[in-house]
Amino acid sequence: MSTIRKRKIKIKWKNFLSFLLFIILLLFALIELVICIKKVVNSPKKEKVIIVEKKKNSLKEEKLNKLDNINKEIDYFNIKYIDRYISYKEKNTEIPNKQIIKNVNMNLDLEQYKDIKQAKNLNTEKILVNKYYYLDENYVPDNLELINTKYALSNMKLVNVAKNAFEEMASDAKKEKLNIVAMSTYRSYSYQVNLYNKYVKTDGKDAADTYSGRPGHSEHQTGLAVDVYNTKENYTNFEKTKEFDWMQEHAHEYGFILRFPKDKENETGYVYESWHYRYVGKDAAKYIKEHDISFEEYYATIIKDW
Ligand code: DAL
Ligand code: ZN
Repeated sequence: MSTIRKRKIKIKWKNFLSFLLFIILLLFALIELVICIKKVVNSPKKEKVIIVEKKKNSLKEEKLNKLDNINKEIDYFNIKYIDRYISYKEKNTEIPNKQIIKNVNMNLDLEQYKDIKQAKNLNTEKILVNKYYYLDENYVPDNLELINTKYALSNMKLVNVAKNAFEEMASDAKKEKLNIVAMSTYRSYSYQVNLYNKYVKTDGKDAADTYSGRPGHSEHQTGLAVDVYNTKENYTNFEKTKEFDWMQEHAHEYGFILRFPKDKENETGYVYESWHYRYVGKDAAKYIKEHDISFEEYYATIIKDW
């Protein structure tokens, strides 16, 4: 090869290497530039997020302060209800903080039959049905069974666990010559429509609402509620019977509670009913009896499935 040709090839190589180096440097510069731009664009966003978070936290702290940080003392504080707690407290300054939380958890700050939610825990003993929680018109509980007519009028059905517990309770009462007889148990939605309408016709809507559930809001639709009598006295006089005294002492041992007690009307939403019992299971019944609370309060502080 001639020296001239050799020199030409050398020059070409040099040019190529310089070009390659230039491209690599350019790429690095571009990457750096992109990283820099990203940093510039992102940094105010991050700062903004941090500022918003800080504001949120201090607002939350401020709200908790308004409630004297009662959330630290109880385990049934629901942060989702914080604004409701505050506004209820502002309207009820005489009520202590713990009761404020309980009352709001029981929905006592809401209008009955207005702010309603679908009942949860369907087909379980934990189900709560009242003036704030309703059952669909098609809801029929699983496992309804007829109660033995030794302890019930004909065609009385309860969910099997409740039915077994009821028969056991009535049978044990019978050993002491006491007659506990089921006279109204599971009621369908359509049955409740007729019943409620009948009451409205006779007593008017306001009065009917004090003692009868509107369709979808009656606990009888759960198949866990039972009205009893002793076959001699009218059921409305059940309170005056020996059977009532016996149930006061023993119903919880079988998983039943007196569902609408005398002094809990503002929580349950109904006047006292000495004849209406609800199956909640033995543990819940024991707790409710020992603490002398309504099922609403039990739901709002123990079940906590708001
Ligand atoms: N008597 C009760 C409240 C009901 O109708 O479910
Ligand atoms: Zn009843």
